[in-house]
Amino acid sequence: MSILVTGGTGTLGRPTMAALRSQGHAVTALSRRPGEGRAVGNLSTGEGLDRALDGVATVVHCATTRFRDIGQTEVLIDAAERAGVEHVVFVSIVGVDDIPYFYYRDKVASEQAFIASDLPLTILRATQFHDFVAGFLRPQRRLPVLLVPELPVQPIAVEDVAERLVEIVAGPPLGRTEDIGGPMVLTVMEAARQWQRAHGTRRRMLPVRVPGALGAGFRAGHHTTGLPGYGRRTFAEYAAEQAAALGR
Ligand SMILES: NC(=O)c1ccc[n+]([C@@H]2O[C@H](COP(=O)([O-])OP(=O)(O)OC[C@H]3O[C@@H](n4cnc5c(N)ncnc54)[C@H](OP(=O)(O)O)[C@@H]3O)[C@@H](O)[C@H]2O)c1
Repeated sequence: MSILVTGGTGTLGRPTMAALRSQGHAVTALSRRPGEGRAVGNLSTGEGLDRALDGVATVVHCATTRFRDIGQTEVLIDAAERAGVEHVVFVSIVGVDDIPYFYYRDKVASEQAFIASDLPLTILRATQFHDFVAGFLRPQRRLPVLLVPELPVQPIAVEDVAERLVEIVAGPPLGRTEDIGGPMVLTVMEAARQWQRAHGTRRRMLPVRVPGALGAGFRAGHHTTGLPGYGRRTFAEYAAEQAAALGR
């Protein structure tokens, strides 16, 4: 099957490309930059999309601006309809309709635009990636204390999300399919402790309360699926792998 992975160069896209290839699929990454196994295209302008979608049966849509995505979603929908794509798989986020965050509102708008389109569709919502949680901690390595949001989180490994995407691609469009989350619900503070243990650091951790309706939405756990989660790889395992890669 010929598959185009938008965002195939990104955090989720890379393991998704590898997992699809390991199943024998012909996979190309849509990227703004040329490279091996890539089709050059820009979802903001539509440039290159018709060529990239030529002969493609399935699109796995992982691209994101991490800001406002609806414009890119609309460009992709138009191009995919023109190309006669048979299945679009859209990766969304658990709880987007319950937490008042601008990026999540945009994600809901993207889901709705796909639903309103003529494209056969699967929407998969996932919880925060391990990498996303580490993204709070990594940039603080030179600060005297570690600022840690007081929130629960159910982080999932991108490899586990990729496995689910491979299953979905092999089957018929499902509409909105079951949300997936990581193997444990823990606090970001607990995750930070595991991160420090793996990296051999013992810095003081300062809890930070996220204010307003945004904080309340996250504290209520709307971004978690509850247990048992779909993912198997724990955040502690991920932290240990990251530390080992740095030779710690
Ligand atoms: N991070 C999380 O915790 C999390 C949790 C659940 C769901 N999700 C969702 O999972 C998806 C993947 O997230 P991610 O963290 O893997 O993203 P990412 O690492 O930020 O990757 C973004 C990708 O989007 C592509 N892209 C951006 N602008 C583009 C444009 N104008 N034209 C073409 N491609 C463009 C980039 O490709 P080039 O730079 O190569 O062009 C890049 O590969 C997103 O939809 C996200 O909302 C994320």
